[in-house]
Amino acid sequence: MKFTVAIDGPAAAGKGTISRAVAAKFGFAYLDTGSLYRAVGVKALEVGRGVIDPVIAAQLAGSLSQTDLDRGDLRTAMAGQAASKVAAIPEVRAALLEFQKTYARRDGGAVLDGRDIGTVICPEAEVKIYVTASDEIRAERRHKELVQAKPELTVAQVLNDLRARDDRDAARDIAPMKPADDALVLDTSDMDIAEAIKQALTLVRSVYDGT
Ligand code: C5P
Repeated sequence: MKFTVAIDGPAAAGKGTISRAVAAKFGFAYLDTGSLYRAVGVKALEVGRGVIDPVIAAQLAGSLSQTDLDRGDLRTAMAGQAASKVAAIPEVRAALLEFQKTYARRDGGAVLDGRDIGTVICPEAEVKIYVTASDEIRAERRHKELVQAKPELTVAQVLNDLRARDDRDAARDIAPMKPADDALVLDTSDMDIAEAIKQALTLVRSVYDGT
């Protein structure tokens, strides 16, 4: 049985939480595709001592290991920025394409979250959701996640960081972040996470017959 749930949208809109809930509810596998770009980004920064070389980034994307994906520093703001820089390099995206396409159509169903899942990775996905929320709300949510590890971080810094990343992700030539024409747009600005999950589950249930 192949069944793909594509969940796209800007940073900190709630994609990850919604995706994990959908995967757990229906017994689907889950891939956080942002972690692939984050792993390439931090490694490229390390190898280039702070400077990202596109050729090296593409090589790293072609040889990512589980150890790279298990690093503890992938969720930092710096990793997010590095991810969005390497994500604009066509050769990096090409190197990660096949793995994601295969994952999306694996047997037993899959949920993938990212920026281009419904448009590029799996345009044939049975369910497409574009999760969004206002910039300010997303910055507050992300700030709550990051502030324990970095107490000096302000909401304004997080907001700037998110906007820079969103602008880069939406403006790039290759696989820009945008809702697929047939995606349901779920604006979570005025919803708590329980309500957002409920709406996503209802949508998947309306399409998935469980076989
Ligand atoms: O989802 P997350 O915030 O972890 O993604 C980090 C970055 O990776 C994004 O800002 C984006 O540049 C890139 N990305 C992408 N395509 C995806 C997933 C993530 O370009 N499918």
